[in-house]
Amino acid sequence: MKIIAPSILSADFSRLAEEIKSVEKAGARWIHIDVMDGHFVPNITMGPVIVKAVKSVTSLPLDVHLMIKNPDCYIKKFVDAGADLISVHVESCVHLHKVVQMIKDNKVKAGVALNPSTPLNSIKWVMSDLDFVVLMSVNPGFGGQTFIPNSIDKIKFLKKKIESNGLHLLIEIDGGVCSENIEQISNAGADVFVAGSAIFSSRDYNMTISSFQKKVGCNFD
Ligand code: DX5
Ligand code: ZN
Repeated sequence: MKIIAPSILSADFSRLAEEIKSVEKAGARWIHIDVMDGHFVPNITMGPVIVKAVKSVTSLPLDVHLMIKNPDCYIKKFVDAGADLISVHVESCVHLHKVVQMIKDNKVKAGVALNPSTPLNSIKWVMSDLDFVVLMSVNPGFGGQTFIPNSIDKIKFLKKKIESNGLHLLIEIDGGVCSENIEQISNAGADVFVAGSAIFSSRDYNMTISSFQKKVGCNFD
């Protein structure tokens, strides 16, 4: 099953509830929430208060992407706010295994995100504990950046590793996903497609998400 996950970073925040309802109606399966702290990445966005507000207007799973330092200090806050999936960056966790267990102990799906230059080897010993891996296909911090082409090989490599180890985790790709590259990303082995600007800057969310679904071979149910 392929999953389109709009990133609300590019939504119109003055009409956030409306924006979320529109992408939900258009076929989004998860809502991706980009949390940035101005330290791990050079931008500040939203925290648990927004997650809680989003939770109150949608029944879709909330996929919370923590681009913050010391994520272990905030996991409980995001769980309480309504996160269904939480990903932390391998680059910001000194004790990655411990943080992953902390997420799982809270009965939330656990993911680890990797910056474009971070080798897959860095998650080798936690892979069997994860529900999903987020491969960043831009340097985190901002929406609207261009997809880094060698992310395709990284997806293929990770897909092989997952299959050869008999694991069941999902590959989520985040950054620069658009109608020109989504098919290639899907064919490489990605399961979850985060798209911010490509969806929220389009005029018709229905048309954009339907065309994404068609390109990744989703069933229309
Ligand atoms: C980047 C964020 C992404 C980003 C995606 O730091 O993690 O989720 O908002 O936005 P687009 O699709 O515009 O690259
Ligand atoms: Zn993200």
